[in-house]
Amino acid sequence: MPLIGLGTWQATGEGAHRAVREALELGYRLVDTATMYGNEAEVGAAVRGSGLDRAEVFVTTKLRQNQAGREREVVRESLRLTGLDVLDLWLVHWPPGGLARPDTWERFVEAREQGLVRAIGVSNYSVAQIDELIAATGVAPAVNQVRWGPALHDADLLRAHAERGVVLEGYSPFKATDLDAAPLVEAAAAHGVSTRQVVVRWHLQHGVVVIPKSTDRERMAANLDVLGFELTGEQVAAIDALGAA
Ligand SMILES: NC(=O)c1ccc[n+]([C@@H]2O[C@H](COP(=O)([O-])OP(=O)(O)OC[C@H]3O[C@@H](n4cnc5c(N)ncnc54)[C@H](OP(=O)(O)O)[C@@H]3O)[C@@H](O)[C@H]2O)c1
Repeated sequence: MPLIGLGTWQATGEGAHRAVREALELGYRLVDTATMYGNEAEVGAAVRGSGLDRAEVFVTTKLRQNQAGREREVVRESLRLTGLDVLDLWLVHWPPGGLARPDTWERFVEAREQGLVRAIGVSNYSVAQIDELIAATGVAPAVNQVRWGPALHDADLLRAHAERGVVLEGYSPFKATDLDAAPLVEAAAAHGVSTRQVVVRWHLQHGVVVIPKSTDRERMAANLDVLGFELTGEQVAAIDALGAA
């Protein structure tokens, strides 16, 4: 799974299609969509039209809470809308009705076994809810996608996911962040980059997948352009400390 991807919430219609097409041109190889976003068709069309080998692009979609109980129908609808033969990652978008729902998870395992999706995971699940799924089915989610950023940094939560072999994927990296926070401003100045680039780079250095959303070509390019610098241990520690503030 690529560590940086494109978020697509609130990108719709031709704007979503263009953004994903341009993101793939810029080098993005992970695209995050959901049935809730209403743009699976545009995302799929952009991936299919990109000229890239299908195996090079990682497409995530999600099952809405109120679609629990209709998993078999919903995954086929996501495949139909995207026009893809297989989805790379299928997530339970939120614990349905606040519950872990092992019955939904069993349908997810079934979809993977049938080859409709390559990997399955959850989103907005607590560690206790992940444990409930593991206890019921013996299958751990490959990924838990949660709101994440420096202010939400939690070393115990990172460790709990790592211990279970669950990849943490962060969403809303910018919206969840005070971009004027001193450790971000100082690191940005030291490396000659923006505070948003520091935030993306900080995720990578923790091995947390990050999916900033933009539909603007220059902003998408900037958000991906984080391989030319490395935060020092001190800078990472100072940013981590925002989570305890
Ligand atoms: N699983 C879940 O429950 C869940 C919940 C929320 C989000 N997500 C996923 O995570 C993705 C990212 O989260 P998000 O969309 O909530 O928020 P975000 O990525 O933190 O922020 C997106 C906002 O920042 C702006 N932006 C992006 N790059 C910028 C830059 N370089 N300079 C200035 N502004 C910039 C965007 O505007 P422009 O588009 O105009 O550039 C947009 O308004 C979503 O799109 C979605 O795929 C998942």
